[in-house]
Amino acid sequence: MNKPTPLTILGIESSCDDTAAAVVRGVAGEAKVLSAIVFDQTEDHKAFGGVVPEIAARAHAEKIDYAVEDALNAADLKLSDIDAIAVTSGPGLIGGVLSGVMCAKGISAATGLPLLGVNHLAGHALTPQLTDKVTFPYVMLLVSGGHCQFLLVKDHDDYTRLGGTIDDAPGEAFDKTARILGLSQPGGPAVEQAAKDGNAKAFALPRPLLNRDDCNMSFSGLKTAILRARNEVIAEHGGLPISVRSDLCASFQAAIKDVLVSKSRRALAAARAIAPNVTTLAVAGGVAANSAIRNGLETLCAETETTFVAPPLSLCTDNAAMIAYAGLVRFTNGKADDLTLSARPRWPLDETSPSMLGSGKKGAKA
Ligand code: KG4
Ligand code: ZN
Repeated sequence: MNKPTPLTILGIESSCDDTAAAVVRGVAGEAKVLSAIVFDQTEDHKAFGGVVPEIAARAHAEKIDYAVEDALNAADLKLSDIDAIAVTSGPGLIGGVLSGVMCAKGISAATGLPLLGVNHLAGHALTPQLTDKVTFPYVMLLVSGGHCQFLLVKDHDDYTRLGGTIDDAPGEAFDKTARILGLSQPGGPAVEQAAKDGNAKAFALPRPLLNRDDCNMSFSGLKTAILRARNEVIAEHGGLPISVRSDLCASFQAAIKDVLVSKSRRALAAARAIAPNVTTLAVAGGVAANSAIRNGLETLCAETETTFVAPPLSLCTDNAAMIAYAGLVRFTNGKADDLTLSARPRWPLDETSPSMLGSGKKGAKA
């Protein structure tokens, strides 16, 4: 069989609060990231305690051309070296997604390069192939500020949603907990740091939905429990002592870890009931940076003879290399879009799975 010709794909991502462009070269299952540029908008949204869609859209529109230019320069390439343009066309914040889609369409119209609309979640879900050459089928746990779901990834366009959050995403719970406890944003790293000095058994926080024999999760009650516990501590001590704050962080982190580990065990079992040859659990999303959660998942994988894959953080969080790679796979399979490509704010990977209430900072979408 002839070896497929390597393709060079420009990727564009703008579905939430990161304006990103990247160049990936290779073939499906074996590709390299030549460049990956991310302009994050943390400062733009800082004063508002969350992502403001209008601010995000404007910031994307201002920066996206520069992101593309930087990505091409960093890869030492010109547009004439590119084979196709892949762009996130959903799900996400509509204004942001539109910025990326318009930019990609503009380049496509001007150069004649093929255009590929990519599902942002497919980008995350296919990342283990790009970083670790993981073969299908595998289980993906997406845990960030905007996503929380288990996917059985059977092929590049064949996903079974095994479960997900019915309310907040875990990263969102970390961010809200940090806010309640007076810690900085993003909350995940701040809570993890504070938890290092705390006792995880100091507060008995709930582990929601563990009694249910499915892969769904709920995190909004946890943040309410933290608020109540904090208020009780303040009423008793006249303030929030730093040592108690650390205990609250450690207890909160342990509760999230327990839920994710326990539901991952179920997700692996559910996946193996569908595809017995599943050997890998892969994670993506900013929450995968958490050492306690990572260690918990690693232990679970060791116990269940499963390979644990965690891509480097820069490719775990929102980026355009994953979009370029997902586009590369689509293009290889003979797919392409035209200039009628539109933005889809909601776009579940598994169209057969019932819609969930779960939101996250990008809004309900899965
Ligand atoms: O994937 P990401 O960069 O963006 C999206 O949400 O799409 O994830 C950011 C989320 C934030 O909610 C942040 O608090 C959380 O990931 N996060 C963490 C840690 N680092 C980032 N959560 C727990 N522990 C961490 N070390
Ligand atoms: Zn994402």
